[in-house]
Amino acid sequence: MTADGLTAAQQKMREEGVAQTAIDVFSDFYTQLEQGVTGTIPEDTISPYLDPPSLADVTVDPQVAKDAFDKLVVIDLNGGLGTSMGLDRAKSLLTVRDGKSFLQILAEQVLAARKATGARLPLVLMNSFRTREDTLAVLEQYPDLAVDGLPLDFLQNKEPKLRADDLSPVTWDADPSLEWCPPGHGDIYTALLTSGLLQQLLDAGFRYASVSNSDNLGTVPDPQLAGWFAASGAPYAAELCRRTAADRKGGHLAVRKSDGRLILRDTAQTPAEEMDFFTDEHRHPFFHTNNLWWDLEKLAEILERRGGVMGLPLIRNEKTVDPADKTSTPVLQIESAMGAAIEIFEGATAIVVDRSRFLPVKATSDLLLIRSDAYALDERMALVKQVENAPLVTLDADHYKLVDDFEERFAKGAPSLKDAASFTVEGDHRFGAGVIARGEAVVTAQDPAEIPAGTVIEG
Ligand code: UTP
Repeated sequence: MTADGLTAAQQKMREEGVAQTAIDVFSDFYTQLEQGVTGTIPEDTISPYLDPPSLADVTVDPQVAKDAFDKLVVIDLNGGLGTSMGLDRAKSLLTVRDGKSFLQILAEQVLAARKATGARLPLVLMNSFRTREDTLAVLEQYPDLAVDGLPLDFLQNKEPKLRADDLSPVTWDADPSLEWCPPGHGDIYTALLTSGLLQQLLDAGFRYASVSNSDNLGTVPDPQLAGWFAASGAPYAAELCRRTAADRKGGHLAVRKSDGRLILRDTAQTPAEEMDFFTDEHRHPFFHTNNLWWDLEKLAEILERRGGVMGLPLIRNEKTVDPADKTSTPVLQIESAMGAAIEIFEGATAIVVDRSRFLPVKATSDLLLIRSDAYALDERMALVKQVENAPLVTLDADHYKLVDDFEERFAKGAPSLKDAASFTVEGDHRFGAGVIARGEAVVTAQDPAEIPAGTVIEG
């Protein structure tokens, strides 16, 4: 039955025009899935990674930094849909502040860095079939963004969702586009190859890539890091941040005992009964930001040696065919994580960076915080914290989790949060303009549904 499933999936991909290398990668994962590979990494097979170098401690020769920056391309992952915030399009289209979206800010960060350094610095987004059109429409506002004949984006591959019961490709007549999904950001290696972009970048004289999530506005193009990476001679590096007790999510690097290699362990790869180790900030003191650095020449070598199949660990994602309808057919999505490639590169390394390089928006509470006066955009178009400690924002999951609900309730703008230690909203409220939160500010379910303009909420 399942052998038929693979054949049917391959056939479906061929008919859709998916590149053969992407079909090979999918087939490799499919075989693992069939064999029952779950991809879990038990704690007793790894040792904590305790001694990464720190950017704050390294000296970078300014000329080395300049030379590396001149050969740098910025790649942003933009293929995801922000489903956990109820979105079915690119999260980077959301407005962040000053009327600008993530995408506009990313583009303007690159333009500002070019102006400051004179580097060519192309920006290239990895889109999926669901995010491309909207994204390119926004980027049309920046006629100077494209450089050296390079495209502004490349498209990631698509693969069939598989029925959880027999691993055959699911059919969904109500909306056949839901039969497909992007294969996770680990697909970037395959997509760079199948799109031809990797070769184009090398041909245009680019050597290094700085890669990150498009929902992380902390990754301002950084000559210092580029210089450190070039001087390290490493083929690959991951940016890490020191963990605090509040950082319970996010993967971490570890040393695999069997071969001494650095590996990435994500939540999905941690056995449920071992989550205490995973979240222990003393045992695994640094988390993985998903900001990566690649030597493109080494990447091309590895991909060539492996026939385009990177061989990343499998992530088995259980979903329903229609993500918005939890009663629709259960499916498995084969995925992989970009940062898991650290185990493939001989000599891969990591570096601890300032927390300001990690500013992801995973929930509406993150969005409210960066819209508030606790942050501001500087001349680099970097979002800079205006306070010593950003307040902890907690919004009622029933009324604010989905972006549309959230926007309606904060239609008059984010409250002032710069003097708040925390801002907690329980129940359903609409906020007027100029609301000010101070100290441990709490809005309870008993408070009025309409919070009038200018209200001061003081804990
Ligand atoms: P995440 O896996 O963290 O997902 O993607 P997400 O987009 O934040 O949202 P949820 O989980 O669906 O709510 C991290 C980055 O990788 C990109 C996303 O766009 C985001 O920038 N991504 C993810 C891709 O480019 N392709 C994928 O197939 C998956």
